[in-house]
Amino acid sequence: MIVEAERRGAVGVARLNRPEARNALSSELMEMLCEVAEAWDRDPDVRAIVIAGSDEYFAAGADIKAMRDRTFQEALSNPFTSFWPRMAAIKTPLIAAVSGYALGGGCELALICDMIVASETAEFGQPEIMLGIIPGGGGTQRLARVVGKQRAMELVLTGRRIDAQDAFRLGFVNRVAKKREWLDEAIELAEVVARRPPLAVRLGKQAVLAADETTLAAGLDHERRLYELSMATEDRVEGMSAFIEKRKPDFRGR
Ligand code: CAA
Repeated sequence: MIVEAERRGAVGVARLNRPEARNALSSELMEMLCEVAEAWDRDPDVRAIVIAGSDEYFAAGADIKAMRDRTFQEALSNPFTSFWPRMAAIKTPLIAAVSGYALGGGCELALICDMIVASETAEFGQPEIMLGIIPGGGGTQRLARVVGKQRAMELVLTGRRIDAQDAFRLGFVNRVAKKREWLDEAIELAEVVARRPPLAVRLGKQAVLAADETTLAAGLDHERRLYELSMATEDRVEGMSAFIEKRKPDFRGR
């Protein structure tokens, strides 16, 4: 399978598996990853999703071999265009577990995730400029929001890569793990999120993402509405009662 899907309790782990092409995002791989993520997103027992590659490569970007002969019309209707909005529509928290190369669309796939755990071997970059194109999976926009305009400009216009430590310093990744521990650390982080009340987790994700989309005033207003929704859940009564009664909460996702 080009995407290996495995459940670890409440965490879904999707591993890209196209070693012969360094996990390049072929149409089939993108379709399968979307299907796996969307199925887990509908499953109330899945509370967090980890997207990973292998030790050597997360993903080497769009499939250059398939792209070379693509006509303009074909580019307009390629699954690559719908892949990004489909992944962005996943409400369950997504954690990228990146070891080795995350380049082009691979870097953009990591960026569309809500958190990134990187192995000390990880390398990120947007090398599209060297192919005569620019990033088309959100790289210019998400990168500029995460690392700032100047740094995004350098990555996009030079195509240079940055390593895990630089990515950490830039606020691009949440943490850097030792080379044999990257996947376990990502799963551990996902497990922590998975233990939290799932409705509040989804509302929290939605609220933080709104910060990229709106003005501060509109974002604060949006946050207020989502906060009010969280106050309407049974889980918040449980969370507050458990605190007062000095016991562990039993969150039911209601
Ligand atoms: N698409 C298709 N095939 C790819 C690929 C890609 N993005 N990346 C690697 N491969 C293939 C190679 O063609 C090669 O195939 P063959 O065995 O048939 O020759 C095989 O994978 C192994 O590749 P390498 O020999 O290059 O492996 P390496 O370990 O020496 O280097 C790498 C790994 C640094 C990732 C290098 O392969 C590389 O630079 N890949 C291209 C990265 C890139 O430019 N990505 C951007 C793609 S465009 C994009 O993503 C568009 C967008 O956002 C809109």
